Amino acid sequence: MDSLYFDQGASSFPKAPGVGEAMAHYVTNNGANINRGTYSSAAQAGLTVLETREMLAELFHFSEGVERVIFTPGATWGLNTLLRGFLKPGDHVIVSSMEHNAVMRPLRDLEKTGVTFDRIPANSAGETKGEDMLPLIKNNTKLVMVSHASNVSGTLFPLEAAARICAEHQLPLAVDAAQTAGHVDIDFSKLQLAALCVPGHKGLLGPQGIGALLLRRDFADKLRPLITGGTGSASDSEVQPDFLPDKFESGTMNLPGIFGLHAALEFIKKTGLENIHKKEQEQTAKLLSLLKPLAVNLVGPCDANKQVGVVSLDFTNMDNGTAAFQLEQQFGIMTRCGLHCAPNAHKTLGTFPRGTVRLSLGCFTTEEDLKRVADAVKALSINSVCG
Ligand code: ALA
Repeated sequence: MDSLYFDQGASSFPKAPGVGEAMAHYVTNNGANINRGTYSSAAQAGLTVLETREMLAELFHFSEGVERVIFTPGATWGLNTLLRGFLKPGDHVIVSSMEHNAVMRPLRDLEKTGVTFDRIPANSAGETKGEDMLPLIKNNTKLVMVSHASNVSGTLFPLEAAARICAEHQLPLAVDAAQTAGHVDIDFSKLQLAALCVPGHKGLLGPQGIGALLLRRDFADKLRPLITGGTGSASDSEVQPDFLPDKFESGTMNLPGIFGLHAALEFIKKTGLENIHKKEQEQTAKLLSLLKPLAVNLVGPCDANKQVGVVSLDFTNMDNGTAAFQLEQQFGIMTRCGLHCAPNAHKTLGTFPRGTVRLSLGCFTTEEDLKRVADAVKALSINSVCG
């Protein structure tokens, strides 16, 4: 039985064509560090790094300067940089009800130092109204930080409405695009974002261990780096440089990861983000229509216009962990079950503490894959393996 990877929300697989080759090429034929050596291979590697920043800036309509595209090990690192590097004791933050622990755990840590937060309420499909943010704004509110789409239910957050309110109240808006980068068009400039955190290994179809943090100029100036160290620049000084990207990029970078991401971004550009989005939206609609008639509860909006290709199921005839196990054992389908590092999202959706089985598709998913998944869910929802 062929296996079918249906956990694109955790990490994309397969990667974009050329990603593995680009990484192998760097490791095998180049291997140089950037910003340090004066030899040509270091300059060549530096050029790929610069091009990757440029491609990220283009993809996210980012016009603040490529030096404000910061490489990080992933979205979690970027989110920690934002929260820990910006907030001070006494500050208040507004978050959504659907946040991942990449936001909530740093916030819970910061709570111990006197930072407070409120969550914008959401309905039982995880849907939020932008204006529900208004009553939460206080004199000491310093930041609005939201997940663009839930990693549990795929529910999209109303970014445009939130952006309007943030602009009116002069509040910086930071976005966790872990489930939308590479799936949905995100216009940094139009939304007047303060910051955008993206992983390289999910919708961007690159390798694990590389991501990016895009920073608006005024916000970058106010942000402290998470770590400091050698940057290959201003080597006469023991003080961290305050210019970008160096301020936030200490130590040797993940160059194999950047080479891989470069190849992935070339693929996305060639394919067209709008085509990827259209295809994934159609696939999500198709998957939902195949699952709706089945004897399993669908969690979330169940509407491809209101979510990305992440669909959570709550089996009524067996434990969801057993269902995920059987999906692989009997049908070769890999999914993610449990609470998905997002306990409050599950509380909002009414699936805490039992969790759900999450199906997540990607740009290489086929109609045949969707049918296979739906047939397997149908078989399991009829025939309880627990007896
Ligand atoms: N945050 C990733 C997920 O939702 C890992 O699975």
